[in-house]
Amino acid sequence: RNPKRAATIEDLRAMAHRRLPRFALEYLEAGAGDEAALAGNLAAFYRWRFLPRALVDVRQRDLGRTLFGRRLPLPLLVAPTGLNGVFRKDADRLLALGAARMGVPFAQSTMSNNSIEDVAATAGLHHWFQLYVIDPPEITDDLITRAESAGCEALIVTTDAQTFGKRSWDIRGRVKPSILTLREVIDAGLHVRWWSTTLLPRGLPRFANLQRWFPKDKQGLFESAFWTRDHMDVGLDWDRAARIRDRWPRKLLIKGLLTAEDVARAQAAGADGAILSNHGGRQLDWVAAPLDMLPAARAAVGAGFPLLVDGGVRSGGDIVKAIALGADAVLVGRAPLYGVASAGEAGVIRAIEILRDEADLTLALLGCARIDALDRRFLVEEPG
Ligand code: FNR
Repeated sequence: RNPKRAATIEDLRAMAHRRLPRFALEYLEAGAGDEAALAGNLAAFYRWRFLPRALVDVRQRDLGRTLFGRRLPLPLLVAPTGLNGVFRKDADRLLALGAARMGVPFAQSTMSNNSIEDVAATAGLHHWFQLYVIDPPEITDDLITRAESAGCEALIVTTDAQTFGKRSWDIRGRVKPSILTLREVIDAGLHVRWWSTTLLPRGLPRFANLQRWFPKDKQGLFESAFWTRDHMDVGLDWDRAARIRDRWPRKLLIKGLLTAEDVARAQAAGADGAILSNHGGRQLDWVAAPLDMLPAARAAVGAGFPLLVDGGVRSGGDIVKAIALGADAVLVGRAPLYGVASAGEAGVIRAIEILRDEADLTLALLGCARIDALDRRFLVEEPG
């Protein structure tokens, strides 16, 4: 149970598997459809091998990176993930605390179970906010205003989940999607450590930043989740993105892009950066892995445009690979969730420590003292 005992992200994952009931675990882990995109994200990292330089003085190593004028201790961010309250009470506050402690930005999801203001109160936090464009537009407007007033440094507009992907586990064996089966309720009841630290203190979590918009008869967790799904603005397009750009005064990133054309279009539309992502394989199945699309995207926008990538990062070596292929930084979704699920704030800190220490060790063994000096020549694509 002590997260310090975890040597790898996989160890934290095993701890999370022991603590969480089945329904929460499936929500955390599953991908869409056949889970080909989910598997593909991991496989993309497997295809790259390191090519070390010999006899390099690596006594002084530097993992630090400047992103939007701020020095980060390592090129890592905690990705926005919704409904974290099913993993632990106040999970987003714990993620924010852990991220702040490690000097890493935390992106809070629109579907967070903590309010924007609550998370913004975390001392020393680089607080980013992820926006889902919801219809009616007053809701989206309200979220932007609140994120601005709360001092969020950056706004991430997620583009790849306006229509929800097919998550088979959420349908199979159910009368209605997302309503728990009797078997799942019993399984949840057997996970005493989970419900005593998650449900008991406050009951089922609520979507803290949307609650006031839900109709009176749609206030419950599942009803409000359906309501939100049915009110995602499927008409979201580049014009709407441009209007959000005009409205938001700080850094704006567009998340969920994969093609070089879309990344160039985001740059032309005035975005400050783009996030190559397939939503952790949870949306369109069989979609390309973001890592594979990175070199072409980088070539399209040149060196100066911040390009972030996520999907499948489970080790410090993965971070090094993504940076060598042209990313400015990577985001991690599941890795810190394993941490917060298994051990709260201490688990989040441990997840980030593991990634940092592995990245540092990789640089030492690679013969590259500074992460800023990485490039494609430190990698070779596995034949076949
Ligand atoms: C997500 N992701 C996500 N993205 C987003 O923009 N808004 C959201 O609310 C969510 N919710 C969410 C929930 C859960 C449980 C997961 C695992 C993921 C996607 C997330 O930001 C990120 O793109 C992926 O998680 C990256 O892949 P890895 O690191 O999980 O492999």
